[in-house]
Amino acid sequence: MLFLRFFLNLLIVKQSTDLIQFQFEQFIDQFEKPYKNDPNEYIRRIKIFEKSLKKIRFLNQFRAHENSAYYGLTKYSDLSPHEFKQTVLKNHGSKLIKKKKSRRNTIESFVIPYDIPQRFDWRDQNAVSSIRDQGECGACWAYSIATTVESMVAIKTNRTLCEFSTQQLVDCSTNRGCDGGDICSTIEWMSKMNVSLETIKDYPSESIAGDCRSDSRRNGVQIRTDHLCENLVGNELQVIRMIANHGPVIATVDASTWQNYLGGIIQYHCFNNRNHAVQITGYDLTGDIPYYRVRNTWNLDFGVNGYVHIAIGDNLCGIAEEISSLDLVDIPKSFL
Ligand SMILES: *[C@@H]1O[C@H](CO)[C@@H](O)[C@H](O)[C@H]1NC(C)=O
Ligand SMILES: *[C@@H]1O[C@H](CO)[C@@H](O)[C@H](O)[C@H]1NC(C)=O
Repeated sequence: MLFLRFFLNLLIVKQSTDLIQFQFEQFIDQFEKPYKNDPNEYIRRIKIFEKSLKKIRFLNQFRAHENSAYYGLTKYSDLSPHEFKQTVLKNHGSKLIKKKKSRRNTIESFVIPYDIPQRFDWRDQNAVSSIRDQGECGACWAYSIATTVESMVAIKTNRTLCEFSTQQLVDCSTNRGCDGGDICSTIEWMSKMNVSLETIKDYPSESIAGDCRSDSRRNGVQIRTDHLCENLVGNELQVIRMIANHGPVIATVDASTWQNYLGGIIQYHCFNNRNHAVQITGYDLTGDIPYYRVRNTWNLDFGVNGYVHIAIGDNLCGIAEEISSLDLVDIPKSFL
């Protein structure tokens, strides 16, 4: 009897390792991982992969609603949480997004406002360009600013979208480099120094930081000095109003738990140790769980076609801690 139990256990363990290996082989093929024939790396990665599977099962336990976030294998599932922070969030501890103390920490009871559209997304107004990939350069801050500038140009001119340069910010700003940066101080620098942000065509992207190649003779747009950079914890109604009445906003978030995010609305297990910057393009208040539509920079194959949905009203992922919106100085005729 004992022997039989032992044997059965052995069989179960054997089966589950086989199953994990089978899933891992599929994962390698699906995401074209380079270590298929590198035994050391293979073993290292399959161990991490197994932990990711456990984490995914854990996170999926909290799905309380059919629209709740769901988790599964992503291109990042073979990274340890530490590696994910280092390589994707570029959180090297050197230039962390500035931590400001929350004004309020109370969870507001979110009351749906009826004087603004119940569902709104600047994507539907042709004011949001397509999803980009920050790649190796941890310049989420530059992407969130440049894409918000392009949205504001589109909203002001009602013309087709023109993409603006993230590389110029990476090369020239006070945050110079690929290791993350602070949104407010970059916007402050842009407006104070009358920085003319150039288009991608004039100032193309590279994967590393280089010398500043700004040229004031080229066309660009400038940010007004009366931009906003606010802590709106406990006042997320205002975030929604800003989106509906003004344009997309920039937010800083803690994206550590997004590693295996596939879709749905994040309501739990997102913390407040901010390490990433994003753009909120819209919101939806019509369902049981009101949420923000958050544009990410990890390419189209991440999340909901590149987007992440985050519940409104609970400062989830620290999303309301540092909200920025901006306006433009007169737009040059060439953009009109
Ligand atoms: C923006 O342009 C579209 C089509 O190009 C037009 O239908 C719309 O009325 C314009 N909106 C404004 C506010 O001018
Ligand atoms: C920016 O422009 C304003 C208004 O034209 C000017 O007063 C200011 O000196 C400029 N600042 C810099 C740093 O060029």
